[in-house]
Amino acid sequence: MLRVLFFTLVALLCFVSPNCLPGDTPFEIYCFSYNRVHGTFNDSDAHCLKTVGGSLVSIHSMIENNWIQKLAVDNLDADYDLFWIGGSDEGHTNDWRWTDGSVLNFTNPGPGQPLEDRHCGAMQLSTGRWFSDLCTVKHQFLCQYPNGAYPTGGSYTCPPCPSCSK
Ligand SMILES: *[C@@H]1O[C@H](CO)[C@@H](O)[C@H](O)[C@H]1NC(C)=O
Ligand SMILES: *[C@@H]1O[C@H](CO)[C@@H](O)[C@H](O)[C@H]1NC(C)=O
Repeated sequence: MLRVLFFTLVALLCFVSPNCLPGDTPFEIYCFSYNRVHGTFNDSDAHCLKTVGGSLVSIHSMIENNWIQKLAVDNLDADYDLFWIGGSDEGHTNDWRWTDGSVLNFTNPGPGQPLEDRHCGAMQLSTGRWFSDLCTVKHQFLCQYPNGAYPTGGSYTCPPCPSCSK
């Protein structure tokens, strides 16, 4: 009885404590939402702004890269190996930037990447490596927006539980 109560409480806390929209997943200072819809790079970024007030994901470390890959593996349609992340050098070739304006201080390119004539960045679901693609191709994508708890709430510390483990 107590045990059930404890787990209910933990599950409830996990569910309500992070300031993400219902169904979205917190990690570090961001919340993430996923879709199985496909869009061009710009349309996908615009979709993120419209639906969650965010952008395509920006990635700043290998830990974050691995976590995003796992979120994608668990939630996106694996029939499509590439999905958009928020990096682009469209209109400023060889100067890659994140659409959310954050610093680009980490990259995880696949072999021979990026290609000069492909200006939008995608992650390969199966490897977590980044590949440049034509911006007009349609891919699945993940959106990201700042976790409402940050900076006052600190980082995500939820213990493993049914509602927060993915
Ligand atoms: C995407 O948006 C950027 C910034 O607004 C713009 O410069 C670019 O031309 C757009 N690309 C496409 C393919 O529509
Ligand atoms: C990149 O910058 C962000 C924000 O300042 C920081 O959190 C992150 O650790 C940095 N990553 C690397 C690889 O230096």
